[in-house]
Amino acid sequence: MPEFKAADFSADWLRLREAADARARASQLPDALMLAAASTWHDPERRFTEILDLGAGTGANLRYLAPRLGSGQRWRCIDQNPRLLAQLPHATAAWADRHDDPIQVELATARLRFAGPGWNGQAQTEQRDLALAPISTTAQHSSPQSPPFPLTLAVGSLVTASALLDLVSEAWLSALISHCQSAGCALLFALSYDGRSTLTPARPEDQAVNERVNQHQRGDKGFGPALGPTAPDAAESMVAAAGYRWRSAKSDWRIGPDEPELQQALIAGWVEATLELDPSARAWLLEWQRARQMQIKTGKLQIQVGHRDLMALPPERAKKRPQRRGVYPSRRPKRLAAQKPLNSD
Ligand SMILES: C[S@@+](CC[C@H](N)C(=O)[O-])C[C@H]1O[C@@H](n2cnc3c(N)ncnc32)[C@H](O)[C@@H]1O
Repeated sequence: MPEFKAADFSADWLRLREAADARARASQLPDALMLAAASTWHDPERRFTEILDLGAGTGANLRYLAPRLGSGQRWRCIDQNPRLLAQLPHATAAWADRHDDPIQVELATARLRFAGPGWNGQAQTEQRDLALAPISTTAQHSSPQSPPFPLTLAVGSLVTASALLDLVSEAWLSALISHCQSAGCALLFALSYDGRSTLTPARPEDQAVNERVNQHQRGDKGFGPALGPTAPDAAESMVAAAGYRWRSAKSDWRIGPDEPELQQALIAGWVEATLELDPSARAWLLEWQRARQMQIKTGKLQIQVGHRDLMALPPERAKKRPQRRGVYPSRRPKRLAAQKPLNSD
C-alpha cells in the first residue's frame, strides 16, 4: 500500500488499515514458518530467541502474529515514532477485548504480557530510528564483511515487519538481510506494496494516477531512495542470494463499500502524492477525486491494491557433531570448529 511521508504515519491511518491488512495477509506463511520451526530448530517453548518487529507502529503485526506463533514469545517492537509506540499496549488490550477467543493482556508492567489459547508472550517497545547510521553496536555475530546495521540481532530470532519494505532503500534492506543471515534469523515480511492498483468501475485517469503514485513511492522516505513497488521482487532476490529458503504469496487489499473511510483516505493519499509529483495534473486529478468520492458515498467503489508477503528460513547449517572426547583425541580440530553451527539446538 502506498505510504507517503514516513514521519507522518498517524495512529488513525494505522487503525483504519488494520482490518484490511489482516484480511489480506497470507496466513499460510506464518503457518509454514511455525511448521518449519517446530521440526528444525529451537525448544518448542521458545522457538525464536526474540521476535523483532521493525516499524511496529501501534502493534498491528504483533496482534496478527501473536495468536499464530505459539508460546514463549518475546517481542521487541521497534519504531522511530514514540506516539505510535505509546498506543501499542492499549490498542492491544482493546483488540483482546474484541477478539472471539479469550485473550488476556496485562498492562501493569513495563513489558506487555499477553496470553490466548495455546499462545503467550511478552512485548516491549523500543524507540529507534532504523535509518540512522550505525550506533555503537553492530549485530552480534555479523561477519567482518557485513555492512554496518543499527540493530543488534540475537542469534535465532525472527525478524518481521509489516508495511515497511516499500519505504526502505535497497542498501538498507541488503544490510538487514545480510545481518539476519549471519545471525541465523528467520524472516517474515508482510504487506509490501507491489505497484498494482485496480479501481472498479475503472476510469481513464486511473493508470496515470497509478504511474505517478508508483514514481512517488520511489522517493526518499528516510532510508535513501525507497524500493517502493520494487520491494517484493528485491526482497525475494536478496533472500535467495543469501541462501534463505523462502516462499512468497500475494496479500492484496480488497476494500469494498463497507470501508468508506479507508477508501477516502487512500484516494486522498494518492491525490496528494500525484500533486506533489506533478502539480500540472491538478485539474483532471481533482475531477477524478470528485468522481471517486461520489462512488464512495453511493457504495459503488471497489479498490484492490497489490501487496506481497515473504517468509524466509535461514540457510540450514551442519548439525553439531557430538564430542567424543578420548575416542578421537584431536582429529582435524580446525575443520570441526569451522563447522560448528551458530544456532545449534
Ligand atoms: C506503514 S507503517 C506500518 C506500521 C505497522 N507495522 C503496521 O503494520 O501497522 C510504517 C511504520 O514504519 C515506521 N518507520 C518509518 N521510518 C522509520 C525509521 N526510520 N525507523 C523506525 N521506524 C520507522 C513508521 O513510524 C511507521 O510506524
